[in-house]
Amino acid sequence: MKKVITYGTFDLFHEGHRRLLQRAKKLGDYLVVGVTTDNYDESRGKLNVQQSLMERIKNVKDSGLADQIIIEEYEGQKINDIQKYNIDIFAIGSDWIGKFDYIKEYCEVIYLERTKGISSTQLRAVNNGMLKLGIVGYGRIANRFIRESKYVSGVNVEGVYGPNLNSLKKFVNKHELAFYETNYDIFLEQIDAVYIASPHLTHYEYSNKALEKGKHVLCEKPMVLKMDQVEKLYSKAKNKGVVLLEAIKTAYSPGFIRLISLAKSGLIGDIKNIDATFTKLVKGDIRELDALAAGGSVTELASYPLLVIVKLLGSQFEDYNFYSYYDDEKNVDLFTKINLKYKDAIATAKVGLGVKSEGDLIISGTKGYIYVPSPWWKTEYFEVRFEDFSNNKKQYHKFEGDGLRYELAEFVSIINSKNLQTYKLTSTESCMIAKVIENFRSGINVIKI
Ligand code: CTP
Repeated sequence: MKKVITYGTFDLFHEGHRRLLQRAKKLGDYLVVGVTTDNYDESRGKLNVQQSLMERIKNVKDSGLADQIIIEEYEGQKINDIQKYNIDIFAIGSDWIGKFDYIKEYCEVIYLERTKGISSTQLRAVNNGMLKLGIVGYGRIANRFIRESKYVSGVNVEGVYGPNLNSLKKFVNKHELAFYETNYDIFLEQIDAVYIASPHLTHYEYSNKALEKGKHVLCEKPMVLKMDQVEKLYSKAKNKGVVLLEAIKTAYSPGFIRLISLAKSGLIGDIKNIDATFTKLVKGDIRELDALAAGGSVTELASYPLLVIVKLLGSQFEDYNFYSYYDDEKNVDLFTKINLKYKDAIATAKVGLGVKSEGDLIISGTKGYIYVPSPWWKTEYFEVRFEDFSNNKKQYHKFEGDGLRYELAEFVSIINSKNLQTYKLTSTESCMIAKVIENFRSGINVIKI
């Protein structure tokens, strides 16, 4: 008996899929079809798959063409499957030509002509429409964001808004965008959603106006520097039926999501302490060190460590203080240790623009701890460690590119799902982060060293 195997996501099953399976089946007597898991798709950068694994398996089953369906969970699995199931032929669409030649060592490899004019990506765009996104700002993060947006389907960056005409023109040419605009109202009329990547102190006004006009908002961190402003923005988003999301990329990345659910699972017992550090040395006349632009270590960097703290310990801390090393001339904090006391746990976040430290994360529990080495905010690798180290576990995850693709993918996905919110970063969690930053800026419990 000749056995054939093929793999795919099979999202929104279409004629291209059916034709591929038909031809693959004809190559032998028995067809095995591997369907990818959501996790595997995410890790290989295929974001925004619309149907669940169960639905996609059902698609393949209903085609009546597969003799056996298996699940593809990890990179390198194909070689194992081919040996395990005694496969004679590996068949795949011609969009993969050459990519699977390494399999020739194990079985015959056949690339089948791809059906023209149809794909899951196309169907997703037809179903959901293409989200027209505009960017506020043209700085470093805006540039990175555009590069990353190419990895997310269902969204297109159309234009950019900012006050400086020369910078706008340069930005539009560089990224081949459709338009630029110096009038915010006219800018908003041309888009469905906005990514706000301007200086901190402008976030509130830009977000507020965009929400008012019924536009979805993805706002760079820190979204705003006052808790009541975050609350106002979220309630406006709710009233208008649109999405408001804070762009803390870590919150949406696959490794971090796994880390949080594992820490919450009880595997390390009750969480009693968190130590999270993020430092980035900078120099010169830059926004990060400009007090008038709300610069400083806490406003620039604290969103990351506060994210992990609020995810694991919640938003109801009982007491807090800040130990801070200031540049007195510039009036910005160059290093700050944030201490939060909860009813049953404590947490420390260390952030520095003028002091360097190890950027790791330790989550300590009554049964063990989780160690995430620097850069923990990318969460590519972590270890769960116990007194008896033979029980230790290691996990590896992908964090593709700059990671901004994950926040954008989540943004697009909750807009399309009409859910309008996500468990990955809730409004309550965003509010808590703003509250800590606000407390620091108001000087309460700030002890200068
Ligand atoms: N395929 C095909 N013809 C198409 C689309 C897909 O032959 N028009 C093949 C692919 O080459 C692959 C299999 O179907 O062998 C499963 O592909 P999958 O990635 O699930 O489908 P796509 O429509 O290409 O999905 P996407 O747009 O998300 O990349």
